[in-house]
Amino acid sequence: MPFTTQSPACEAYFETRDSTGDPLVKIRDPDQVQAILHSKHAVRPALMRNIAGQSMVWIDGPDWLIRRKMTQGSFQLHNEGRQRKAINWVISGLMNRLDQASRTGEPCFLVDEFLRMTTRFLYRFAFDIALPADHEKAPVVSAFFAAIFELSYSMLDMSGPLDIAMHKRLKQTITNMESEIELIMQSDPAAGTLLHALRVGRESGEIDDSQVRDEVRGLFIAGTETTSLTLAWAFLLLGAHPTWRERVEKEVAAGGPTPELEAVLNETLRLFPAVPFMTRMIEAPTDLGFEKFDQRTEFLISVYHTHRNQAHWRDPHTFDPSRFLGEQKRHRYAWLPFGGGRHLCIGQRVARMEALDAMRAIIRQFRLHRADDRDTTALMGITLMPSHPIAVTVERIAPA
Ligand code: HEM
Repeated sequence: MPFTTQSPACEAYFETRDSTGDPLVKIRDPDQVQAILHSKHAVRPALMRNIAGQSMVWIDGPDWLIRRKMTQGSFQLHNEGRQRKAINWVISGLMNRLDQASRTGEPCFLVDEFLRMTTRFLYRFAFDIALPADHEKAPVVSAFFAAIFELSYSMLDMSGPLDIAMHKRLKQTITNMESEIELIMQSDPAAGTLLHALRVGRESGEIDDSQVRDEVRGLFIAGTETTSLTLAWAFLLLGAHPTWRERVEKEVAAGGPTPELEAVLNETLRLFPAVPFMTRMIEAPTDLGFEKFDQRTEFLISVYHTHRNQAHWRDPHTFDPSRFLGEQKRHRYAWLPFGGGRHLCIGQRVARMEALDAMRAIIRQFRLHRADDRDTTALMGITLMPSHPIAVTVERIAPA
């Protein structure tokens, strides 16, 4: 199947991305990444929060800390029972859908299926809302993602005429998302869920109603497409590398620990990091060790390029999960799909659990076959996504 692990779109974005006027420094070196992510003077710039609201995902400083502390409980290990329950429930829905597809022979679409599952997980885990397994919320979410990326891109270059048609289209998309958020705001979540924690924060006056809405919107951005696209890339890579597919099929069938599967997930996150870029801005003149920077210097940290930095990775464009097997001596910031420093992904443990459990369940029962022979590459958005819908047929290889 034609398939390249490189993303020309992502590479072009890094080369051509301009600043909004302040100096812009492009980063792909792990030491420099570390210095920036750990500097208290390097904060998130305003662009994304101006577009997508003041959620924990885009803000910094004391307001960010309040939100992080308020919400972290629901992600922690002591809540694993609730997390696992939601994961098992969404995976069982996905298995039923794949079973149906294996019986009819009808192709299904990989990215859509996984986004349906991760959206369903977010609703259950964070908002305590049980969506049906065949819900159709996912297009609202992905259209919103595409819209905020398009908007952020258009705001980098304000020199041209205003694209009124684009703004009208984006307005509709954003209205749809806001209606969804309104429905969620009316729900009655149980104690222990993230939305409940935000409600408690609102009642105690720490945050207000519009900030709760911002957090819900931010969770859609941070917690749905990230995991679903990672799963889609993992199965695309396994489909293109039958030796690894057979290795993980054997490992999963044996029913013991699954280090090879975890290595496949880690290598997928290296080649196709769901968050390919992070941005920071220096708020006071700062010496970061490798250089002194003026106030308002902006950094474009490329996770994608750091993951392919030749000084840290041999044959960086090759899919080779064995890099993640056995003893691993590498720079902490040569591999950072979940970021680092104070903004380290709060959902990391839950996302890995969801992705690995879904992979185990699928690989144990089914084999997915590409139903088209189109060239696939990774397009740039807020996340890295396949260039076209990936149709697969589903073959059952073991009983449920
Ligand atoms: C494979 C899946 C995921 C990947 C690759 C990923 C990646 C990341 C990265 C790189 C950051 C840091 C951004 C920065 O420093 O500016 C981040 C932050 C965040 N992620 Fe994730 N994420 C994933 C899944 C999730 C899930 C499932 C949730 C929630 C349900 C989540 C919630 C968040 C939040 C709230 C933040 C902001 C944390 C803060 O600033 O304190 N993520 N994520």
